[in-house]
Amino acid sequence: MTHVALATCRELPQLDDDDRLIAPALAALGIEATPAIWDDPAVVWHAFDLVVVRNTWDYPGRREAFLAWAAGAGRVVNPAAALAWTTDKRYLGELAAAGLPVVPTRFAAPGEDPETALEGLGELVVKPSVGVGSIGARRFAASERADAVAHAGALQGDGRVAMVQPYLRGVEDGRGETALIFLGGELSHAIHKGPLLGGEPAETFADGLYLLERVASRRPTDAERAVGERVHAWVTERFGALPYARIDVIPGPRTPDGDDAPVVLEVELAEPSLFLGTSAGGPERFAAALAALLG
Ligand SMILES: Nc1ncnc2c1ncn2[C@@H]1O[C@H](COP(=O)(O)OP(=O)(O)O)[C@@H](O)[C@H]1O
Ligand SMILES: [Mg+2]
Repeated sequence: MTHVALATCRELPQLDDDDRLIAPALAALGIEATPAIWDDPAVVWHAFDLVVVRNTWDYPGRREAFLAWAAGAGRVVNPAAALAWTTDKRYLGELAAAGLPVVPTRFAAPGEDPETALEGLGELVVKPSVGVGSIGARRFAASERADAVAHAGALQGDGRVAMVQPYLRGVEDGRGETALIFLGGELSHAIHKGPLLGGEPAETFADGLYLLERVASRRPTDAERAVGERVHAWVTERFGALPYARIDVIPGPRTPDGDDAPVVLEVELAEPSLFLGTSAGGPERFAAALAALLG
């Protein structure tokens, strides 16, 4: 029998509610799936035909260990090279250089002056280049420049690269954030995610691992879909066929004529929530994409 590991973290030994839909869908295809904690030394990863990265949300802060685990855990999806690339948002610079529309982003590595990265921006966001679940992401008003510099400095002091972006208001007063979920190379479904830096104190919806997200199924606009398809084609060209990918887009900076075409906020090839349960046939499409790898 084919046996698949669904990699998770200690806090979620049985996976989250949504990823618990994967095993039954695989079982229907004759594939047995078991959750396994990525940093549990007792797990024999090579005993599995495939290791699928899922709820490994505790890796920020020890990304190197996570990537070393992935590189040595047998057949892992998404592949280790894609995991390395996607877990550091400096990839936004590469996508921009390739002519793809992304949130305008500046980076300040430890030792670099964060003031330079803030120049010319009003309301802005400072966040770590390696991070999940909005942890460490903060929004600052134009009048809070000193706090923004201090937050960037604190991230740098932890050895992290700080990212600076304009706060794009379209996440709350426009179309908002759309996550485009690709399964087996095709756009499967999309969801809308409420604004996470919208002004409520983070503690009201934090649970330690990630900020709780308000999510609803949505039909992407043609423009959102087109951006997603372009970026998906780019990452597929780079890393080969990927059984899953999530590309998050938000309305871009508004031009003088009112255009706020979607731009990429994140390309998630490691451990994104796939919101399988929001889409009829979602778990089955993911199972089929995994089964295709197993031939
Ligand atoms: N530049 C931005 N403008 C507006 N909202 C932002 C911006 N950057 C992040 N956010 C908000 O913070 C959330 C988390 O940021 P994101 O870049 O997606 O990092 P993470 O990897 O932690 O999900 C987003 O879902 C969005 O609500
Ligand atoms: Mg995000």
